[in-house]
Amino acid sequence: NRNDTTARIAHVFRGTFVHSTSGAAVEILQNCVLGVDDQGKIAFIENDRDEESLSKLWGFGASDIKQLGQHEFLMPGMVDTHIHASQYSYTGTALDLPLLEWLNTYTFPVEAKYKDLEFANNVYTKVVRRTLKNGTTTACYFATIHTDASLLLGELADKFGQRALVGKVCMDCNSAVPQYKESSSEFKPVVTPRFAPSCSSSLLSELGEIANNNKLHIQSHISENKGEVELVKTLFPGCKSYTDVYLKHKLLTDRTVMAHGCHLTDEELEIFHETGSAISHCPNSNISICSGMLNVRNVLNHKVKLGLGTDVAAGYSPSMLDAMRRTLDTSKALTIQDPQHKTLSFEEVFRLATLGGSEALSLDDQIGNFVVGKDFDALRVNVCVPEGPIDLFPGEGPKRFLSYLIYVAGRQVVPFPDT
Ligand code: GUN
Ligand code: FE
Repeated sequence: NRNDTTARIAHVFRGTFVHSTSGAAVEILQNCVLGVDDQGKIAFIENDRDEESLSKLWGFGASDIKQLGQHEFLMPGMVDTHIHASQYSYTGTALDLPLLEWLNTYTFPVEAKYKDLEFANNVYTKVVRRTLKNGTTTACYFATIHTDASLLLGELADKFGQRALVGKVCMDCNSAVPQYKESSSEFKPVVTPRFAPSCSSSLLSELGEIANNNKLHIQSHISENKGEVELVKTLFPGCKSYTDVYLKHKLLTDRTVMAHGCHLTDEELEIFHETGSAISHCPNSNISICSGMLNVRNVLNHKVKLGLGTDVAAGYSPSMLDAMRRTLDTSKALTIQDPQHKTLSFEEVFRLATLGGSEALSLDDQIGNFVVGKDFDALRVNVCVPEGPIDLFPGEGPKRFLSYLIYVAGRQVVPFPDT
């Protein structure tokens, strides 16, 4: 029933809609009509046999309906749960060192440049436009330690129409670039401790306090590579595990997303479950700088929220379709190692890139799938490319299209690098 009589319908689409629900990794809604109100919320989604009564109820005419083509469908916008906007400038050029050396050699010197707002404006404009073109409608960004440039990133996302969580990076320890760290007194309350090795215990405590007092999101890195895990043991000898470091500093909440987690133990995953904290799986990055292979199946079995991240620039692609393919590759590699491992399906991976990401960022009351009352946050996909599939296996069209989008079409329709 229509409950808000003042809302007007701004758009109506008719055709095929593909999304995920808690019960189905992929639900295909064919011959449906979807209405969007003037607040950008989904007003209805119904079978098109009810079109006449809907049009009377909502006051739209046949000519207002946008008909999707035979090779088209709408899917939810993709959610990149972990991307370093500031590292976009060296994407694909520096993948030859493991994490800790990689940070000191490439990352910190580049991030130090963002005190120059013109430099920041140039790169941040490119990364927001690029990720939007790739279908990322929501991104959870790391910026740098610079407050002005971090605010600028937020403004640019707003200007180009991307939903963005932006973290001004906090770090006060262990940087090989002396001008690229802060003293604790300088930081601004944006809750992005870089990772435990970059942060003193007092900085972590202060950030935990700010996040809890203001109910803010928290993002960081955890258990990405084995050298890092060993380093954390020596830096925080009083903590039982890497997870315990963040737990003790009150940084594990139901608004926390931690990138990687490749080497977390089952006991640590239980803490993630209990605190409602999420993991951002960044498979391109994990392979590119030889960090490890996250067993996503095991994380899901522990009922831990999980989304996908590109982790530019340790990941060399800013595309979430790439993140989906890499997630499938890593899962298949784990199955090759251990045939008992239950490989992820492309349907499950599609869910992780959309609904899973929204859950990981605690935005699932707003986005992630097509549900009345949520924001209309969608991609119009057309997989009719010249080299498109010939055999479509009767009756399974849309699902095969989705598979084709993930594996093939996304590469052809998305130009890279920027022109
Ligand atoms: N750990 C701490 N900082 C970073 C970073 O910038 N990238 C990655 N991949 N891991 C990190
Ligand atoms: Fe990262």
